[in-house]
Amino acid sequence: MTEDVVVHKGLEGIYVTESSLSYIDGLAGKVYVRGYDLTELAMKSSYEEVAYLLIYGKLPNKREYYNWVEAISKNYGIEEGMKKILREIPRWNSPLDVLKYSLLTIGLWDKEQNRLDKDALYDKIVNILGKTPTILAAWYRISNDLDIIEPRDDLNYAANFLYMVRGEHVEEDAKALDTDLILHIEHGMNASAFAGLVTISTLSDIYSAVTSAINTLKGPLHGGAAGAALKQFREIGSPENAEKYVEEKLSRKERIMGFGHRVYKTYDPRAKVLKEMLMKMDLKGEAKNLFEIALRVEEICMERLCKTKRICPNVDFYAGILYVHLGFPIEYGPAIFALSRIGGWIAHILEYLESPRLIRPRHKYVGPIGLKYVPLEERE
Ligand SMILES: CC(C)(COP(=O)(O)OP(=O)(O)OC[C@H]1O[C@@H](n2cnc3c(N)ncnc32)[C@H](O)[C@@H]1OP(=O)(O)O)[C@@H](O)C(=O)NCCC(=O)NCCS
Repeated sequence: MTEDVVVHKGLEGIYVTESSLSYIDGLAGKVYVRGYDLTELAMKSSYEEVAYLLIYGKLPNKREYYNWVEAISKNYGIEEGMKKILREIPRWNSPLDVLKYSLLTIGLWDKEQNRLDKDALYDKIVNILGKTPTILAAWYRISNDLDIIEPRDDLNYAANFLYMVRGEHVEEDAKALDTDLILHIEHGMNASAFAGLVTISTLSDIYSAVTSAINTLKGPLHGGAAGAALKQFREIGSPENAEKYVEEKLSRKERIMGFGHRVYKTYDPRAKVLKEMLMKMDLKGEAKNLFEIALRVEEICMERLCKTKRICPNVDFYAGILYVHLGFPIEYGPAIFALSRIGGWIAHILEYLESPRLIRPRHKYVGPIGLKYVPLEERE
């Protein structure tokens, strides 16, 4: 009755497309974006430049770079209607939920949202990149009973976002966030990138495709690990408690959050950059304490998990501590992740549109066939 087929649950090991966006060498602990070492880009480049590199396949020259940055910053402003909508959203919603809803809403203001030709897509891309930080910052202000702060087009993507949240510009913090956004911008094929491809493969529209990706990032198995790691450090409370906490967790066969990765079998290079950056920063209060706890947990788990089982720190181990330092509550982690990954999702969507094919998998039917329909009145 059913075909003799192999079902690839979770599509594990299935290659769905060819891509020249990024390559992860999980054994060497390296990640390359369009051939460049991501960690070098994180330290030397800007979010806008790496987004350009991903989307257009090459580093921009000076003219291209300034035009690109200007095109994005010209789109920082959001419509009064969007602000009104944001004010009406019940406060209990998570920042990521607000972001995914708002992204679809941006599309409603675009009269040509269905166009997929190159010229139209450029406008949509800078529209999405320009407006998402403003929406997230506006939500932060609204949900904290504060006035919305208008964007500053003289500040870059990361700096402007932080300014709209906090009302002040601190260069060191803006640079740290920029580095974090670059580190999260792209990471090969994964659940959210694939969701974006499924949507665009039907030749839907780019707002819908990016929203599909955000919807998929939402789950705790994808976008929520930085918050889980942070929660764990808060539970530990102080570096002296770390050893007991780790021992107890491992003896109960529970996991240390921020350790382990499907692809990396060594120290995640992105975690290394974040750790070194936090080392150099003037952390205070809770962020300082959490960082000291994290360092102690890492020290213990390097022996217990990394050296022996190849379960090593991943990017989420340190990311949440940076967000605490920047003043964000724990639930902003997935939304900041999305703010960064939008550049990568757009690049995946555009790359797929170069030779699109409808993604249409099959399932292996294992139910009955040929059952006789019994009218309702005759059923037991
Ligand atoms: C990310 C993750 C799902 C990858 O897992 P994976 O490579 O598929 O490995 P598995 O889930 O098959 O686990 C293999 C073994 O390592 C152990 N392990 C994996 N991650 C562990 C962790 N963080 N702490 C302790 N043990 C861990 C498992 O318990 C399992 O042990 P066993 O063989 O004795 O049963 C996993 O490491 C994890 O849950 N990490 C914590 C959450 C996290 O930080 N996620 C963010 C990823 S970016």
